[in-house]
Amino acid sequence: MRFGLFGTGPWAHMTHAPALAAHPGVEFVGVWGRNPDKAEALAGEYGVRAYPTVDGLIADVDAIAVALPPDVQAPIALAAARARKHLLLDKPVALTVAEADAIAAAVAEGRLASAVFFTRRFVPQLQEFLEQTRKTGGWVEARVHHVGSIYEEGNPFGASPWRRERGGLWDVGPHALALVLPVLGPVTEVTAMVGPRDMTHLLLRHASEAISTLTLSVDTPPAAARQEAVFAGKAGVVAVPAMRWEPVQAFTRMLDELLAAADGGPQPQLDVRFGAAVTAVLAAAEEAARTGRTVRLTA
Ligand SMILES: NC(=O)c1ccc[n+]([C@@H]2O[C@H](COP(=O)([O-])OP(=O)(O)OC[C@H]3O[C@@H](n4cnc5c(N)ncnc54)[C@H](OP(=O)(O)O)[C@@H]3O)[C@@H](O)[C@H]2O)c1
Repeated sequence: MRFGLFGTGPWAHMTHAPALAAHPGVEFVGVWGRNPDKAEALAGEYGVRAYPTVDGLIADVDAIAVALPPDVQAPIALAAARARKHLLLDKPVALTVAEADAIAAAVAEGRLASAVFFTRRFVPQLQEFLEQTRKTGGWVEARVHHVGSIYEEGNPFGASPWRRERGGLWDVGPHALALVLPVLGPVTEVTAMVGPRDMTHLLLRHASEAISTLTLSVDTPPAAARQEAVFAGKAGVVAVPAMRWEPVQAFTRMLDELLAAADGGPQPQLDVRFGAAVTAVLAAAEEAARTGRTVRLTA
């Protein structure tokens, strides 16, 4: 499958480009970035072309991989889907429900394959844990703490303006939702509160009637950073196991799933429809925090 990469930032360098270049089923065709020098530099590392225009790269490939801020990713993804190209997007798919839904509709209409990089969710050990937990059932609650501090010296993600503006809700909220949604089901009610820095607490009701609380931040004091997730119910209190994972390997597994789907196999579980459901919860949480009211969603 011929792939074009959009984005020349840290994530494109660390993960998308090396995984695309190494995959035996992928022909890495070229790179687009708004800064032509950065696009040339990244393309040059892999001996591929730097493209001056978005449309030029879309036209030359079968699929796109995007490592750009979500508000920049969304219109590119929509244009590519309308041009019948498969989509490999990063989280969050978009910052608005309308854009996320439009991308999902274009993918469905074009019968395209799509996947969204909820990183750890492409680690088989975590997939198996969540599938087993879903089958066990009887859960009444989940708690996820996804709390980090990306503005410390040397962190590659701290220079990103959209993360400063949108905070942990939009940056790490997708990862937390990708853990709870498959086990507790779609969200029907959202309430949220924002505290100091970007600390955001979400309280969610799921279609299963279970509730979950998500603690999200990318700007916590380093001593308070943590990643924990538990489900509680008839089976007791079960923690999501800590596991080692490597982003290029996870991306490679996502590529395997996308290629199989494009070849007539099953659609990845973490496709753009799932990505749009995640955007709907995050947008509802933003509204709930702003208005101080609970927001209802149709499951
Ligand atoms: N799945 C994960 O675990 C994970 C981890 C990290 C990142 N990500 C996702 O990957 C994406 C990229 O992240 P990142 O860390 O590389 O940093 P980023 O700040 O989100 O993106 C950097 C890239 O976006 C470009 N860019 C910024 N604003 C732009 C605009 N208005 N128009 C066109 N291009 C623009 C930058 O170009 P310049 O270099 O010219 O400024 C650079 O190429 C994000 O969506 C993020 O959520 C996912």
